[in-house]
Amino acid sequence: MEITPAKVYSVATFYENFSLEPKGRYIIRVCDGTACHVRKSIPILNALRDNLHLSDKKHTTDDLMFTVETVSCLGACGLAPVITINDKVYAKMTPDAVTEILNTLKEEALHEVAQ
Ligand code: FES
Repeated sequence: MEITPAKVYSVATFYENFSLEPKGRYIIRVCDGTACHVRKSIPILNALRDNLHLSDKKHTTDDLMFTVETVSCLGACGLAPVITINDKVYAKMTPDAVTEILNTLKEEALHEVAQ
């Protein structure tokens, strides 16, 4: 295609929807913009990471089921703290609420594997 590796790399790393690492089936984005941060987004992020054994360096589970990322603002500040899972928005989250959602997603995934 006569494109330099540098050009390919710059495109692959510029756009948020491209990634050099594989992502999970469920991509969870935790908003840590100002409105969400002051309404305690970090405990939500920590609850997700603890539950999934992830960290600020490891974003995706080994089974490629879940990826946890942070974003600056999802444009729904009035609903803070907000997360999205794939394209669905979850408003006014708490650590307990995200743990419950994770458990539901894990159960759904188990049922799909069993079928
Ligand atoms: S700061 Fe979280 S939606 Fe805007």
